[in-house]
Amino acid sequence: MNFSATKTILVTGGLGYIGSHTVVMLLEQGFSVVIVDNLSNSQAFIEERIREVADGTLQVYIEDVTNEKALEAIFQKHDIAGVLHFAAHKAVGESMQKPLEYYHNNISGLISLLACMKKYEVDNIIFSSSCTVYGEAEQLPINEQAPFQEAASVYGRTKQIAEHILHDFANACSKKIVSLRYFNPVGAHPSARLGELPGGIPDNLVPYITQTAAGVREYLFVFGNDYPTRDGTAIRDYIYIMDLADAHVLALQRLLSLNFEDFQSPEIYNLGTGRGYTVLEVISAFEKASGTELPYKFAPKREGDVTAAYADNKKAKEELGWQANTSLEYALSTAWKWEQAYRSEQSGS
Ligand code: UD1
Repeated sequence: MNFSATKTILVTGGLGYIGSHTVVMLLEQGFSVVIVDNLSNSQAFIEERIREVADGTLQVYIEDVTNEKALEAIFQKHDIAGVLHFAAHKAVGESMQKPLEYYHNNISGLISLLACMKKYEVDNIIFSSSCTVYGEAEQLPINEQAPFQEAASVYGRTKQIAEHILHDFANACSKKIVSLRYFNPVGAHPSARLGELPGGIPDNLVPYITQTAAGVREYLFVFGNDYPTRDGTAIRDYIYIMDLADAHVLALQRLLSLNFEDFQSPEIYNLGTGRGYTVLEVISAFEKASGTELPYKFAPKREGDVTAAYADNKKAKEELGWQANTSLEYALSTAWKWEQAYRSEQSGS
């Protein structure tokens, strides 16, 4: 069945890293897309890039999700079938310095959005959650039943609080809600026209690696070399961005096809490959993918980092029919292609 024929999907944070790649897939599937983005961690030119790589109906509003009046006007204007809510702050370190900003943006933004969904009778939402809700999990791989652990950061706490809010909202208002808990998204669109664009010094591993290989940074600092792992560095589950985008489309199709009664709202899915790599293994995969040698140094552990996190992704495979087959090496090759393309445009060559 084609659910997308006449459906309009509201995508908050649609010009950001995960949002923009997902919008491309939604357009390719025939959905109309309305983006709300405040450009706080994205660039306006991404709109043109999305239009370059995908045809379809796209409208962009530069607005803040915490501005409920502005959101209301958008809900009034468009017949929205479902919402994908990406817009949130996500830097772990920064969240400790600016807790109120994080609570305001990540929590008040969600509440404004849910209030509009209630008022305009929009029944479907997919929420961007994170494996950070599990903290240092007791069992690996981590499945969706694993309990929340005390969050190591304000950012992590906002994701936990948001999931509680969604749970209560689903019960009270009969809404269909999916919460997708991402592991570590990496890579870029194969065209190298879209990718991760961190402002300032990257917090995340892969953009730091590509910037180091491009000569923007002198060394990669590997945080910690005495973790109880096979080579002493921390283990994560790196998932290719296009596989992650694909999961959103599948989850949306599921939401649109099922009635509230057939749905355990909120439904929760882990999105990871199921395989963990150490930081040193990521470096080595990047060196292979790029044919470059990456200069790195060991540095102290980063506060709040866990030893290992990788997903049990059985539920997403079984219920969404999702596959996350892209190799880490290929994902890293797209990140490198994107970094190089971006740098050469910046320097005007
Ligand atoms: C963190 C969050 C995650 C969030 C994601 C979004 C936690 C525990 N994790 O993921 O929830 O969704 O950011 O941004 O809150 N590393 C280095 N050198 C670097 C950068 C990273 O060695 O310069 C290491 C880290 O110590 C870690 C791995 O690389 O072991 C991945 O780090 P990163 O990309 O920042 O992601 P997470 O911390 O796993």
